[in-house]
Amino acid sequence: MSNELKSFLEGLDSLAQDCESRKGQACSLKELEELRVEFLGRKGKLAGMMGQLGKLDNSEKPEAGQKANTVKQAITALLDSWEAELHKAEASEALSKFDPSMPGRKPWAGSLHPVTLVMDEVCNVLTGLGFEHAAGPEVENDWHNFEALNMPPEHPARDMQDTLYVSDKIVLRTHTSGMQIRSMLKQEPPVAVICPGKVYRRDSDLTHTPMFHQIEGLLVDKNVSMADLRGTLTVFVRQIFGSQTDVRFRPSFFPFTEPSAEVDISCVMCGGKGEKDGSTCRVCKGTGWVEILGCGMVDPNVFKSVGYDPEVFTGFAFGMGIERIAMLKYGIGDLRMFFENDVRFLEQFA
Ligand code: DAH
Repeated sequence: MSNELKSFLEGLDSLAQDCESRKGQACSLKELEELRVEFLGRKGKLAGMMGQLGKLDNSEKPEAGQKANTVKQAITALLDSWEAELHKAEASEALSKFDPSMPGRKPWAGSLHPVTLVMDEVCNVLTGLGFEHAAGPEVENDWHNFEALNMPPEHPARDMQDTLYVSDKIVLRTHTSGMQIRSMLKQEPPVAVICPGKVYRRDSDLTHTPMFHQIEGLLVDKNVSMADLRGTLTVFVRQIFGSQTDVRFRPSFFPFTEPSAEVDISCVMCGGKGEKDGSTCRVCKGTGWVEILGCGMVDPNVFKSVGYDPEVFTGFAFGMGIERIAMLKYGIGDLRMFFENDVRFLEQFA
């Protein structure tokens, strides 16, 4: 063995020892990386030794090369094992700072929209009274929405409902009352249905939105009277607004009912007194009453348009706006809140 080879091999051995003795310098992953660069980097100590390889005799190069490889693997294994130790220490330190008894953060969950809540509640009360649920199209023809409901083309009552037309004879339904017609055409009496859904009108201001929700009710049978209507709606109102609520029927007009009435309830804000905290109640404007729905006895002309005999059957119908019920129930002052979807508003109903 030549002297050159001997000192080359010794140099490699002392490189390995040198690395081993530096363990104390690798207290962090950053320091370890510095060691890795120092020994194994492109301009590191091992690479420096490899530069000497060319000076050896060709016959001695294989042995020197093999030894260099072994030392490289040993140093790599050493550094890897230190790295694993550091990772382990880091993890256990992080774990020691972790308090498993700390309460978790709750994920943010959505909730039902107040219109949905009230719609569900109204439907539940009415299905509890025996009404069945019916659904129909929001794009409706003129006949179901108007004509069959005793509103012929020139009828002035059509003006009450700023209609959105899809075409000459097709409209976005202006009310759910057209579902009375669809329900009666589907079956013979007795009929007891409720029809909740969206309705549309060309109207937009503080108290009107182009789309809102209604629910329609219809009961047809032999001997249905105004007393049945009054009893049904009184039970309904007291379930929604509380048992102390007073109900009054005020004469009104709708083309599809005769007689017709609007139903008022004692004001939800002032309890019917007309004043609250010494000033005029802002909800009922001092009258003590708030209007909640329209109703009446089904007009004989409506029965004729669906082929029911008005001499045999009578019935009552009612319709109400869900947003209005929700505003009264929750004391919401501005209709637009329902459609802005401000989370601060919606969260209050969770
Ligand atoms: N359709 C009416 C409206 O949208 C509400 C209504 C009034 C419905 C009287 C009825 C009723 O069924 O009998 O204003």
